[in-house]
Formats: sequence, C-alpha cells, structure tokens
Amino acid sequence: MKVVHTKSDLRAARALLPANTGFVPTMGALHAGHMALVQAARAASDAVVVSIFVNPTQFGNPEDLAKYPDTLAEDLAQLEAAGVDLVFCPTAAQMYPEGADTIVETPKLAGMLMGALRPGHFRGVATVVTKLFNLVQPARAWFGQKDYQQVLVIRQMVRDLEIPVEIVAHATVREPDGLAMSSRNLRLTAEDRAASTILSQALNAAQSMATQGATPDQIVEKVSAQITAEPRATLQSVDIRGAADLCELPDAPLASHAVLLLAADFGPVLLIDNAILTP
Ligand code: PAJ
Repeated sequence: MKVVHTKSDLRAARALLPANTGFVPTMGALHAGHMALVQAARAASDAVVVSIFVNPTQFGNPEDLAKYPDTLAEDLAQLEAAGVDLVFCPTAAQMYPEGADTIVETPKLAGMLMGALRPGHFRGVATVVTKLFNLVQPARAWFGQKDYQQVLVIRQMVRDLEIPVEIVAHATVREPDGLAMSSRNLRLTAEDRAASTILSQALNAAQSMATQGATPDQIVEKVSAQITAEPRATLQSVDIRGAADLCELPDAPLASHAVLLLAADFGPVLLIDNAILTP
C-alpha cells in the first residue's frame, strides 16, 4: 500500500492504477462503518484509493475541527490489512492553496435539514469531494447512508456537473444493539451509550407504523414521544421526507419510499440516524 501526501505524488501513483479504480473518501478515525465501504470498494474494483483528510471547510465550528480525532497510524494499518492500494493524506495547504476561491454548491439540498442547522457544511463537502474526484479520477466512489443528505448532495453535484464517477451508497453499519457506528460513539458515557439505542428502536417502530398505513405526522409524533421519554436524550429533530430528494410529503399514508431522519443529543454528543420507510 502506497501512502502519499501531495497532489503530485497522488497523480503519479494514480496513473499506475487501472481504470476500474474505486474510491472511498474519509476524514480518518476509521471504524467498522468506514471499513465496510472499503471492503465493498475492494470487492467491486481492480484497485482501491482511500483519502484521509479532515476537511476544514465543512466545519462551522473551529473547536469541532480541532477536536477531530487523529488515529492515522491505526487507520493506515486497517487500510493495509483491507488490501487498499493507495492512501491520500493531504495537508489543508495542499487542498486549499493560497488564493483558492471556487466553491461547489447544491443550494436546494444544502439549505434544508442538516444543511440549515450547519450553514456552509454541504458546500464544504461538495467542494472537497469534487476536488478529490478530479485528483483520484475513480470509476466509482462509495458513501454511507448514515449521512443520508450527504449522499444526495454528492449525487446531485455529480449529475449537474457531468462528473464521470458512479456513486454507490452503502447501508449504515450498526453495533449489535442497533446504534449506528460513528467516531462520536466513543465520546458517549456508559449511561448515554446504553440510552442511545432508543434511536434505532424508534426507527424500527416507525417502519412498523408505515407498513400499517400511518401518516408522516402520526409517525413523527410517536417517534418524538418515544425519544423524549428517554431522559438522557435531547431530541433535536425528527423529519420524514421523500427518499429521493428530501421533498416535503403530504400527511397521508406513504405512497412511496420516504426517509426518517433523526438527530438527538446525548450529553454533549449529537447523534444522527435515519432509515428508509417503505409503505
Ligand atoms: P467521514 O465522516 O469520515 O465518513 C466517511 C464515509 O464513511 C462517509 O461516506 C460516511 O457516510 C461513511 N460512514 C460513516 N459511518 C458509517 C456507518 N456507520 N455505516 C456506513 N457508512 C458510514 O463523510 C465524511 O467523512 C466527509 O464528509 C467526506 C465525504 C470524507 C468529505 O470530507
């Protein structure tokens, strides 16, 4: 496995890889959720490139950026064991040299839900992923459904800008008790970690209601009550939207796939989760 830190080394090493190269962009602190994307890319590609870059432009709060975990040695060991060919770990100065000014934005998607809570976040994601796609030139790239809105932003920008990369979404990888894997889970106290299973339980209950013909308002009410009943959880948002484009839905039994998006604080840790609801 080759590890490169500069754009010129990346381009030189990429040129030696086959056309059917798969790509998994990450910010490091790798866990089993990231590694599932890497394994899926490995199985479907002749070579795999992974990037590790904590992208400053997608963080609203400089403290969050400074606190982001750095486990580079362990990350590289995991990627090597998974059979990755090339890892790109650039510095911020490599990715954003003096004078950089161009942005990539999907205003409609980026202005709603998580995007409204974190202004500028999806612009940062879209811009850095465009740059990474241009550098790595993969045939396909893998993203996790865990970050549901992010996948839609990437699909939108690839479609609108004719970027020749196929986007593959991977199901959310969960702990045995249902909690979606995230590097944030390590920051939960033991009590909050135990309480956090309420999120996946609420998603499961919502699916049963959807199957029985409940309307979005009924599901939102039930899910909100279920999470609010957990004293360690502070509910931030519950939304049901169209699965394809996050459009608002009429308050009638679901006619097509919808997505239920949850966000709740457990102590200082904000957890997000989502599930597709099928009618
Ligand atoms: P990061 O949070 O490191 O996540 C990298 C990829 O792993 C994303 O596509 C994310 O959705 C996926 N992922 C995280 N947890 C997962 C889980 N439990 N199951 C399945 N997939 C999971 O997302 C980013 O980095 C950045 O925004 C990035 C796309 C790299 C741009 O900077």
